[in-house]
Amino acid sequence: MAKVTIDGITIDVPDGTTILNAARMIGGEIVPPAMCYYSKLKTSGGYCRTCIVKVTKGSEKDPRPMPKPVASCRTTVMDGMEVQNITSPDLLEARAGVVEFLLLNHPLDCPVCDQAGECHLQDLAYNNGKAETRYAFPRREFERRDIGNNVQLHMNRCILCYRCVKVADQLTDGRVHGVINRGEVAEISTYIDNVIENEMSGNVIDVCPVGALTDKTFRFKSRVWYTKPVDAHRDCDKCCGKVRLWYKGEEVLRVTARKDQYGEVEDWICNTCRFDKKETSQWTIEGPSKISRDSVISANHYESLQSLRKATKEQLANALPHGEKVQAGQGALNPNNQKQ
Ligand code: SF4
Ligand code: FES
Repeated sequence: MAKVTIDGITIDVPDGTTILNAARMIGGEIVPPAMCYYSKLKTSGGYCRTCIVKVTKGSEKDPRPMPKPVASCRTTVMDGMEVQNITSPDLLEARAGVVEFLLLNHPLDCPVCDQAGECHLQDLAYNNGKAETRYAFPRREFERRDIGNNVQLHMNRCILCYRCVKVADQLTDGRVHGVINRGEVAEISTYIDNVIENEMSGNVIDVCPVGALTDKTFRFKSRVWYTKPVDAHRDCDKCCGKVRLWYKGEEVLRVTARKDQYGEVEDWICNTCRFDKKETSQWTIEGPSKISRDSVISANHYESLQSLRKATKEQLANALPHGEKVQAGQGALNPNNQKQ
């Protein structure tokens, strides 16, 4: 076991644990954001640098601090290590720089992007970024491409986190999807227009932290905050069959895997469950999904609307005797009408 202190909170973790996972064991605000690490995908992490932390003490044996911020998803803890994340202003400044780099080529098309409302880059920019960019050059642009019948790649929005490549590598046979070129011209490719037809290929949609890989059966049907997520399951011989159905009224607009608090899928689902089962009768409904209070999706719950309506009615009922109407100038906001 190793003892590590993150932002003043000490925890014992098994040897070999990364700083990021040690922080996740503590939980809460001190957990660094992660745009490319994905605990369910082997060898993920190390590409985006959003998870950087400051190591102020290397270990009990060698207490020297590390000279530069390190990627917490790729750095394992040492016994006695001390780490700063949200308690270091320098580190937060460095992370703001990382966010600025990630946004260099990312289009400002949130109003028309299907991922808006559940986009990790939006959250990252909101929590860790700055309001302005210093970049003055045109952003790079690509044609949209279909990856199979149900997935579309909009490379302009890609941050090259490699998660979808790991999915193609680790979940599907005979990989036909990867990154070609390097630097400014690097792009996700399907080795030139081979489609991914594997049963698990739809999972690239769920792992993509931005709106680069989207579900063609859902595109432009609704803003995510107008939909209601419900957990459901079915007997499936290809995957776990445990999904989240996104309703608008009585219609299932899309099916996704269930995600945990870090936005990672709990279990992979197959394309049949994702694209071909959009009738309520095909599922056993478990109940409304638990959505984080901070999420934009929870902002639109009917319950809060109902309670607001009830409170307003009560207020009105208390304010005026039944049937009495207020004339202009008689209202309670007019200072002349204030009770003494
Ligand atoms: S398409 Fe999405 S998942 Fe794939 S590398 Fe780009 S941002 Fe990551
Ligand atoms: S999450 Fe650690 S480098 Fe991307």
